[in-house]
Amino acid sequence: MEVAALQQLNQAVQTVMQQARSQVLVKMGTAMTVMEKTSRKDLVTNVDRSNEHFLVQALRQLDPGAQILGEEGAGDQVTTLAGHVWIVDPIDGTMNFVHQRNHFAIMAGLYIDGQPTLGYIYDVMAAKLYAGGPAIGVTLNGTTLTAPLDLALSAGLFGASAPLLIHNRYQMQTIAATSLGPRIIGSAGIQISQVLAGELVGYLSYLRPWDFAAGRVLAETLGLSVTQVDGTPVNMLSSGAVLIATKSAQRAILAIVK
Ligand code: IPD
Ligand code: CA
Ligand code: CA
Repeated sequence: MEVAALQQLNQAVQTVMQQARSQVLVKMGTAMTVMEKTSRKDLVTNVDRSNEHFLVQALRQLDPGAQILGEEGAGDQVTTLAGHVWIVDPIDGTMNFVHQRNHFAIMAGLYIDGQPTLGYIYDVMAAKLYAGGPAIGVTLNGTTLTAPLDLALSAGLFGASAPLLIHNRYQMQTIAATSLGPRIIGSAGIQISQVLAGELVGYLSYLRPWDFAAGRVLAETLGLSVTQVDGTPVNMLSSGAVLIATKSAQRAILAIVK
């Protein structure tokens, strides 16, 4: 896509994200339905579902012919990254949404023939919208975001995942101890946005495509590294342990994991 067309699409998608945020805020003021998906720690609400429905409809209008992969199933059965593919997480951090009413995000990422193209992470309660992609740069609420410093693991805070830290998967306790300290929020989108902002030197978690599709676009645009925990490339149609980090922190983390 030409840069001008991408810029136009970017503006339109930011408007959709703002509409999605407004609708979620309104629905938070009404009685919500909370359901367990696979366990008591895996929740979905009527707001997750209605917001995904809204995002799928809106993105179909803006980008007809695109495939849409949504966490809650309102989109398409996507088996190939050929053409335009949107990957959507209507509420990232549903546990926080239900129990904290804070620290959750709305996310969408566009891949064209597998190439990271546009990404959106909206931290709803903080009203922070991270948006952009490699051709147009990254903005935070419309202001250009500069690349974070290439800090070492030992020089910054590390974004942990609670299950991986508790069970010491991938030597996460050593990674955390090597850093200035672990931080856990419980929303992949918000933790990745903290890496974008230079507040964390890295984030490691077991993630599904919608948890990191948007974050990968934004992180790579800002010169951060996004790989699987063994250093191999990520695949946007499968799940795994994903590391988003400064290049220096990534080297140190890969050495610890090995
Ligand atoms: C979850 C959150 C959480 C991460 C989980 C995700 P959801 O997303 O991002 O931080 O640790 O792996 O599934 O289910 O609330 O959209
Ligand atoms: Ca979700
Ligand atoms: Ca998620």
